[in-house]
Amino acid sequence: MSKHDLIFRIAGDGGEGVISCGDLIAAACARSGFGIFTFKTFPAEVRGGYAMYQMRSGSEALHNQGDGFDIFCALNSEAYEINKTNLLPDTAFVYDDTFSPDVPEGVSAFPIPMTQLSRQLGFKKAKNMVALGALSRLFNVAANHLKELLVDRFESKGEKVVEANLEAFDQGYGYAATFELRQDLQLPAAGKATDVIMLSGNEAIGLGALIAGLDFYSAYPITPATEVAKYLALHLPKRGGTMIQAEDEIASISQVVGASFGGKKAMTATSGPGLSLMSEMLGFAFMSETPAVVVDVQRGGPSTGLPTKHEQSDLLAAVYGSHGDAVRIVLSVENVADCIHMTVDALNLAQTYQSPVILLSDSSLAFSTQTVPVPDLDAIEVVERKRWTGEGEYQRYEMSTDCISPMADPGTPCAMHIATGLEHKQDGRAAFTPDNHQEMSAKRFDKLKSLPSYYKAAEVDGDAGTEVDIGVIAWGSTIGVVREAIARLRVEGIRVKGLYPKLIWPMQVEQYEAFAEGCEQILVAEVNQQGQLAHLIRAETSLHPISYTLCGGLPFSPDMIASRVRELL
Ligand code: COA
Repeated sequence: MSKHDLIFRIAGDGGEGVISCGDLIAAACARSGFGIFTFKTFPAEVRGGYAMYQMRSGSEALHNQGDGFDIFCALNSEAYEINKTNLLPDTAFVYDDTFSPDVPEGVSAFPIPMTQLSRQLGFKKAKNMVALGALSRLFNVAANHLKELLVDRFESKGEKVVEANLEAFDQGYGYAATFELRQDLQLPAAGKATDVIMLSGNEAIGLGALIAGLDFYSAYPITPATEVAKYLALHLPKRGGTMIQAEDEIASISQVVGASFGGKKAMTATSGPGLSLMSEMLGFAFMSETPAVVVDVQRGGPSTGLPTKHEQSDLLAAVYGSHGDAVRIVLSVENVADCIHMTVDALNLAQTYQSPVILLSDSSLAFSTQTVPVPDLDAIEVVERKRWTGEGEYQRYEMSTDCISPMADPGTPCAMHIATGLEHKQDGRAAFTPDNHQEMSAKRFDKLKSLPSYYKAAEVDGDAGTEVDIGVIAWGSTIGVVREAIARLRVEGIRVKGLYPKLIWPMQVEQYEAFAEGCEQILVAEVNQQGQLAHLIRAETSLHPISYTLCGGLPFSPDMIASRVRELL
């Protein structure tokens, strides 16, 4: 491979098997020892509409899906029409020969009779496997791995389906042998990644929850969060945990808070509309100081919005979405590795601070598969809540110096107390006096004051002490894009650095201030219309950032960020 990495884009209609084809290539590359980073976008309809899968594979660390692609595979003419302006000189174009595209100069064209060969086999559905066989031959994607993975993927559909698909694969592979290969677009025989696993953002959240000792999970299915439930339904019962598919999001968060009150580590996952429904119970969890974790896999909103598309637009809802005076911990993940480790953090922080915690992920990360190091379980700290020792008189809301009171499981002798959303005294009994409300409100807020310095510092990309022309702040999966943009800008000699906060709320104000000191200008890049993080930064710090927002259902590309920085200079 003469390139640093190789990017495949496969596109077609929902139902044509774009996702299966892309997943198989990604898994085969991972098995061959390459790092992978995938991005999928598909319509809300179960069949029809444009589906696209981008897979970046390489030997260096990959932080995003890349700008464009090196290899484009179109399963139909519509997919070609949508992507034809991205067919740059030197890219390779593999397509179903039922249409005759106007191939731009400098592009290598590989027409493959995908439809015809699958029809001849009597199994039209295998058109994508003809394409897969051709891609394997043309770009040296390990055929042995692909075939093993193909069998795994389709064996539940029966032997005949598997056989037809293997045959389709071989036919595509054989047909592609008639072309001259592009030597600059060949995957090497093997990469160097070892001790890695490949999983999606949603699966990684499930894995992180298991590592953190999750006991109870309840959720109502919603795109793009459902795979967290699918993963936990498979694995949580193996360690004695309980998984419930609730009737709606109000029920799921209520069950989570109930289970947590009962002494269990509990979590749910949802997306924007579900988070809205949960807001009242999140207020109850705050008032009753009950640990609870809500994973919000953001999607295009508001309302049903763009249910399968990417957006980072629930930040303000996560931070402020409550009645009364309430605060909650808000974390956001950058990549699949974070999905593992920060789910552990979310469950730990919920236990430590007896607080609701919202973990923000997003739709592109939910479906993105990435290779990550196998988690070192010995190095991961799992925290339990402060429990009552049985000494002295039990007071559920005892005013301790850190404002965190001991919890007792229901039924603990001598630790009976009232659990209520009403304002209460230290012993838990309802009380509405002005002094008491003032005192207990302060307790609930003050216990979180230590968090911004307790939690890991926001990463500074670059030398913290160096003066730069532009500092770029990003959150969530946009961080990976900004990382690459900054690396490219530095090569051009542009003085730039990045700040990547992962504890979003309470804000690590001092870290923002320190970062801004050496920056001429601050740019905040995020995928929403309002510039939600920029808004919080203006409200909470002395910074006056320039907001760079995007809101079209797709993530930024490194080129977009780099171009914006150049414009500002
Ligand atoms: N042989 C046999 N079966 C094959 C096949 C082959 N060669 N290639 C694909 N298939 C099957 C897949 O296994 C899958 O089957 P399943 O539905 O039983 O899981 C199906 O065909 C679709 O193929 P897949 O590759 O998974 O997806 P696709 O690229 O065709 O796109 C989706 C289809 C994913 C876009 C669509 O099904 C979907 O889920 N849309 C989103 C719906 C949604 O979440 N809406 C939001 C509601 S709020």
